[in-house]
Amino acid sequence: MKLYLATSNRHKIDELRQMLADAGLDASVETPDVLGGMPEVVEDAGTFSGNALKKARALATRIEGDALALADDSGICIDAFDGAPGVYSARYAGEEATDEANLAKLIREMEPIPDGSRGGRFVCHLAVVSAQGEERVFEGVIEGEILRERRGAGGFGYDPVFLPLGRKRTTAEMSAAEKAEISHRGKATRAFLAWLQSGRADAVNGTVAPIKP
Ligand code: IMP
Repeated sequence: MKLYLATSNRHKIDELRQMLADAGLDASVETPDVLGGMPEVVEDAGTFSGNALKKARALATRIEGDALALADDSGICIDAFDGAPGVYSARYAGEEATDEANLAKLIREMEPIPDGSRGGRFVCHLAVVSAQGEERVFEGVIEGEILRERRGAGGFGYDPVFLPLGRKRTTAEMSAAEKAEISHRGKATRAFLAWLQSGRADAVNGTVAPIKP
């Protein structure tokens, strides 16, 4: 079976390949390149699942047979900011903002937030659309606290200030495998793999399905 992942992010492709191998699933991971590229999608749905579904549906128009189109949307939600930046995490410091600029803005904006009120979470919604139009969205969440200063050089984005609940190291201080075990993306992907392994039964933990934004 072929899985087409709507991303050019090598980290996400490698992570999915590794998790498929670990689960003993016979599926290959392809990028949109082999389908002539990723169709243009405006991520304006306003929800993680809405944006993920938009991307997966667009890619699914180019697949056939038993292939599946996959797309995720993720971000960081800060309690003190009523869940912001949320779906706007990639654009927090502006439309073309770098990860570095977004992280610097988060550290700055959270300066006045007292210890004990610095909770937040990473959220990932992974949308799966078949060539026949079957749709599912899988969710993964990791709770944590936002540190005042960066720690660690691994990961990406907001990882250097994200301390998962009950952990002593930020997600930037963890190895990729260690982070995937507890991360929002890891959890959403494992829920998807459980659904695949169960023969696509509906009642699977972590399934947020079906969602029609
Ligand atoms: P995307 O879903 O890959 O486009 O990510 C959306 C935004 O959320 C980006 O700005 C990322 O930096 C941030 N983000 C998503 N997942 C993570 C993560 O695992 N660590 C740190 N930042 C993340």
